Amino acid sequence: MKKSGAGLSRRAFLGAGAVLGASAWLAPTRTGQARVPAPFAPTRTVALKAGESELKLLGPDRPATRILAYDGEPFRTLRLPRGTRLQATFLNGMHEGSTLHFHGIRMPNEYDGVPTLTQPLVQPGGSFVHLLPLDDPGTFFFHPHCDETGQAGRGLVGVLIVEDPRDPAFDAEYVLTLKDWRLADDGGFLELSEPDGASKAGTFGATRTVNGAASLNLTAPAGGDVRLRILNVDSTRIMDIGVEGGEAWLIAVDGHALKPVRLDDLPDGVWRMGPAQRIDVHLRMPRDGSPVQVGDYRAADIYHFATIAAEGKVARPRKGPLALPKPELPRPDMKKAERLSFTLQQATDAAVKDIALPPDDPLAKALLDSLCVGSTTYWGIDSESWPTGSRRNVPPPLARMTTGRSYAVEIKNETRFPHPVHLHGHAFEVLSSSLDRLPRHFADTVLVQPGEAVTVAFVAAPGDWVFHCHILEHMETGMMGYFRIV
Ligand code: C2O
Ligand code: CU
Repeated sequence: MKKSGAGLSRRAFLGAGAVLGASAWLAPTRTGQARVPAPFAPTRTVALKAGESELKLLGPDRPATRILAYDGEPFRTLRLPRGTRLQATFLNGMHEGSTLHFHGIRMPNEYDGVPTLTQPLVQPGGSFVHLLPLDDPGTFFFHPHCDETGQAGRGLVGVLIVEDPRDPAFDAEYVLTLKDWRLADDGGFLELSEPDGASKAGTFGATRTVNGAASLNLTAPAGGDVRLRILNVDSTRIMDIGVEGGEAWLIAVDGHALKPVRLDDLPDGVWRMGPAQRIDVHLRMPRDGSPVQVGDYRAADIYHFATIAAEGKVARPRKGPLALPKPELPRPDMKKAERLSFTLQQATDAAVKDIALPPDDPLAKALLDSLCVGSTTYWGIDSESWPTGSRRNVPPPLARMTTGRSYAVEIKNETRFPHPVHLHGHAFEVLSSSLDRLPRHFADTVLVQPGEAVTVAFVAAPGDWVFHCHILEHMETGMMGYFRIV
């Protein structure tokens, strides 16, 4: 790969500038001040067209399912080197409105893809151009941010891998994208959300898949080092990811490297992962050539989704984990951090109030025009809910914050169900859990157990950033708010 601008003509550079516009690549820095990026950062242009596709989810001899995918490719995967400027054009080839959101990417707010808050809904046949600086290496994904239970539930999810040339060399690497499907016998979809699910743990799918298949048979050299990038892109399911038969370390969470933690040293020897969360696992294959199994051990019915058999020349012996380079993220200043606390709640009429914005407020007006709201309110954050049903007024921000300041945010779960809570546009540091079960790490989504309080901290970047549960039905029935950072 080219370093600096050597070899790029002046004309090519000016051309790129003209297409992208001068302000397109202003990214927040440590201090929150916009910085002008390296002028010769390579730009990659992609078009992502959402539309129907077919996938044999029930098995080779059973009817296929009409799923949704980007460019007709289930779990369309983009792999780009760190430092790339990504120009992604979203094209809506579906019959309903949508937007495209790049989950976990730190970017200018205007490209965040949240309808009404950051951009209008993209109507059928319409498009929207996103300009993203891919500064952070790691395992990310992208998905719609409107009717997510319907669209992501039918498969509209893509994978974004930002590669870091400084990473240690592995003998094999596999991307494992986990998603369940709610299917009828004829291959069609069952109702993707039902009140009993939406108001409780979620509406589950019974057909479990990895990369759209029931399970995978993979290979790696005996004694070799394997990198597994595991993504939970399900709408609902919480998984306990574990490995049997080999030595394994957790080396990144939500794309961001952490000091390797042996999986066996985690509670129950698994990493508990809610919807939208990703992990990178370093697996060392046994030298005796025996196979390794990777599975979700949460339910009584263990789901072994990958078997890795030894193949090829035995790798030379190595000791200890292969750590990824430390993340280069804005570090919150804990001495000066402002402390805030938010409580996740089950909505009762008394607990969750209805706050109306003035009718001439542009947000309220825009929201009336969009259909990205659920039918009922079951959930709230600090007595407020994202609009649902006929109640379509966007509440005021959960908090107003100042760009460049550090915030420590406590997330308290007062409900009977776990919630994977996500903040857009930031990587936060998970500092502590009242149940004392989490190593310190950076992430964009954190699972908060019933009765637990988790504290995360981050340096505020400018924009209106949503803060929501990533169990999609919870989000669509109220468990979403936003931080206004100016
Ligand atoms: Cu995966 Cu609102 O995000
Ligand atoms: Cu939730």
